[in-house]
Amino acid sequence: MYLKRLSLTNFRQFSRLDLDVPREIFLLVGGNAQGKTTLLEAVYFLSTFSSFHARSDRQLINFTLPDVGTTVGRIVGDFVRQDGEHRMEVRLIRENNNGNGHSRFRKEVLLDGVKRKMNEVVGQFNAVIFLPQMARIIEESPSERRRYLDILISQVSPRYVQHLSDYAQTLAQRNALLKLLSERGGDPGQLAVWDGMLARHGAFIMKERIQVIRELEEEAKRIHYELTHGLEVLRLDYQPSYEPLSKPEGQMLLNVSTVADRSGFSQKDLEAGLLAELGKHQREEIARGVTTIGPHRDELRFLSNQVDLGEYGSRGQGRTALLALKLGEVNWLRNRTGEWPVLLLDEIMSELDVQRRADLLAALAECDQAILTSTDLSMFGTDFIESHAVWRVAGGMVKPG
Ligand SMILES: Nc1ncnc2c1ncn2[C@@H]1O[C@H](COP(=O)(O)OP(=O)(O)OP(=O)(O)O)[C@@H](O)[C@H]1O
Ligand SMILES: [Mg+2]
Repeated sequence: MYLKRLSLTNFRQFSRLDLDVPREIFLLVGGNAQGKTTLLEAVYFLSTFSSFHARSDRQLINFTLPDVGTTVGRIVGDFVRQDGEHRMEVRLIRENNNGNGHSRFRKEVLLDGVKRKMNEVVGQFNAVIFLPQMARIIEESPSERRRYLDILISQVSPRYVQHLSDYAQTLAQRNALLKLLSERGGDPGQLAVWDGMLARHGAFIMKERIQVIRELEEEAKRIHYELTHGLEVLRLDYQPSYEPLSKPEGQMLLNVSTVADRSGFSQKDLEAGLLAELGKHQREEIARGVTTIGPHRDELRFLSNQVDLGEYGSRGQGRTALLALKLGEVNWLRNRTGEWPVLLLDEIMSELDVQRRADLLAALAECDQAILTSTDLSMFGTDFIESHAVWRVAGGMVKPG
């Protein structure tokens, strides 16, 4: 698929922008703070309705506008896929009607002019984004990796989005009850209803994670092997908080050299196992007043030649693994949906050595559409510049070259 037209209103520094987007691999060039990353962020927003960048969606509305009355930031994308042309529109709405300084914020999504629930239309337009700060997926806390995984799976599975949201609600209710039992005592039998729901939604989430991590690993591993010229083997090591594989007596559960295969577990198996595990931990969880096992505590580690990149990887190794992961995502989405996602690469060249730049540009050739940004045109070879469109971004304006 590809994006044909992009319109922005009051989206960060873009008060108003209308662009016809070429169906090719092209480059946005401009100095710092001119709006390059913002353009990629806007395109990405059309696929997941979230920003990898902003802490709160409120930040996306142009901050020079006064916080009175109703302010609307808008992203509209016309995109083409095999079944024809569609329009996705996201409205970021801030309302401050009583003038008391407490504005309310909400998002609306419209597909082909019809207002829809976000979880129904996530994944209608697919994009993969690479931002340099995404190294935090590998380097930082497990919650970053869960978030990464959840956003990825959400793009292909509306049911996953539903189960995630039901799981989060159940977890909050169960934690509230645990806290109550811990502080005031009471009948632990009250937990049964929440345990059942948590196990049901949790099992669905785990089953999808097991499957997707395996598929993504296959794609990313192949690309990584090429990028490192056969020197490094990448592995995505899923470490579920509830481990369905049995623990061999007296051994560490899984040492890094064994590949755990959990694909044989049905959703029912996982549900029964997770439920039993919750039962086993009940006393401890009541004492602590919090749910200690389940997908909200899952972990995913990235290993290169069996070394954990989050702990021991060099900066360059981390960047290369991330790139392999992102290009792997492109192939994975293509396999799952039958469409090439739009690829968005922010400042990627400055992150790579000369050989890997060349490898990346070669790998891009297969995509339908890719948008790259750079502050420095000299990172790209003359061949590349002569055969691809280069657009200038300055002060919230874009000049097609
Ligand atoms: N909500 C907002 N309203 C208005 N301007 C904003 C808003 N959010 C961010 N900006 C401005 O946008 C600019 C950053 O834009 P962006 O990150 O897209 O630049 P860039 O071209 O990618 O720069 P760099 O090369 O430094 O990465 C900053 O000057 C920031 O103040
Ligand atoms: Mg930027």
